[in-house]
Amino acid sequence: MIKEKRIALRNIGNYNPGSIDEYLKLGGYKNVERALKINPDEIIETIIKSNLRGRGGAGFPTGLKLKFTTQAFGDQKYVICNADEGEPGTFKDRIIMEMDPHLLIEGMIISAYSIGASKAFIYIRGEYTESIDSMKFALNQASEKGFVGDNIFNSGFSLDIEIKLGAGSYLCGEELALLESLEGKRGYPRIKPPFPAEKGLLGMPTLINNVETFAHIPYIIEKGADHYKSLGTEKSSGTKIFTISGDVKRPGYYETEMGVTLRQLIYEFAGGIKDNKKFYAAILGGAAGTFVDESVLDTSMGYETLKDKGAVLGSGAIMVMSEGRSVFDMTHSILKFFMHESCGKCVPCRIGTVQLLQIMDEAKNNNKDKKEILNKLLNESEYMAATSLCPLGQSPILPIKSIKQFFENQF
Ligand SMILES: Cc1cc2nc3c(=O)[nH]c(=O)nc-3n(C[C@H](O)[C@H](O)[C@H](O)COP(=O)(O)O)c2cc1C
Ligand code: SF4
Repeated sequence: MIKEKRIALRNIGNYNPGSIDEYLKLGGYKNVERALKINPDEIIETIIKSNLRGRGGAGFPTGLKLKFTTQAFGDQKYVICNADEGEPGTFKDRIIMEMDPHLLIEGMIISAYSIGASKAFIYIRGEYTESIDSMKFALNQASEKGFVGDNIFNSGFSLDIEIKLGAGSYLCGEELALLESLEGKRGYPRIKPPFPAEKGLLGMPTLINNVETFAHIPYIIEKGADHYKSLGTEKSSGTKIFTISGDVKRPGYYETEMGVTLRQLIYEFAGGIKDNKKFYAAILGGAAGTFVDESVLDTSMGYETLKDKGAVLGSGAIMVMSEGRSVFDMTHSILKFFMHESCGKCVPCRIGTVQLLQIMDEAKNNNKDKKEILNKLLNESEYMAATSLCPLGQSPILPIKSIKQFFENQF
């Protein structure tokens, strides 16, 4: 029986998140104190060596991002924590914010110190009222104790952290749209490059990381890069929080070493399929993710291993469907979501997301041949992927292509 290995969730349930004193008893803020005595470049090298990759979805190497931000020229550098958590089926960041807010603060302080940033923001989705309250309370306590603010641990390093709220737009979780939103503008995406590391908030070098990514940093400082790298698989090191929902007996969040199989996650952690039905499909990575069938159940959950199978790890969301469910119905919901969240800035996505839904609606109403519909959806989404301005318009092809790969022979 496989066990959880908790790094980002390691303090959950071990202290009252409203009490910084309880956190300090667990060794809280010791890793900040430790890190502030290390040369910033050495911290970056440690993170590079640890092979930590971004847990927000794209899996970009975190250490490299730190390095690029450090090397970029700018009078002011910023750190932003992406706590927008908009990907359907994803509910891990809120657990950290609500149950271990100080760990996130620690990760942000160490990251800010390593790149020389004196100002940081936590961008939280507005509907996450409990996360907002918890983070505000924890920040106040950390400031009172002198862990946030001027001259932290008498190191000469100062950091101000501010909370900013999103308004529930899925697109504002995309880092460049997030920057626009933070600057007080409409949440339209920007053209890449330049990337935020070079020109981010107010044109200054900016480090943007996901909540879960920051939550790994103190552990790496404490245990060292080699230890962290020894966890998980060669290319996907460390642990990942998986959020499992849908037709399982025990939906929830589970943190385990990378390399766990989908079967272990569903049958051992989540207790198997509800009502003792058979497994039919799972969506990995949320709406901007991929459907998989049972042939993927024994694949190791890692960035490359899933990619080789035509799937994605993404945010770690796993939505399980039992026999009797329809991947077509699920795709209908996903396409509705994309249409609703399209910002409308570029034509291929503004019109394309509507057309994809029309194809689905027409198919439903006229009982059309599913293979023909699938090909139509694929054509349209390929066109969108090639011409849309930002990743949102390039996303519908992911679930559609995966249906063709895994389920076409059933139609
Ligand atoms: C449409 C869209 C929505 C996104 N939403 C989120 C989000 O809610 N949270 C997040 O951390 N990253 C989100 N991302 C990914 C971010 O753009 C970015 O890659 C991430 O914040 C980088 O942090 P990481 O390297 O720690 O993963 C989204 C991307 C896209 C295209
Ligand atoms: S691809 Fe969609 S979400 Fe992105 S800019 Fe174009 S319309 Fe907006």
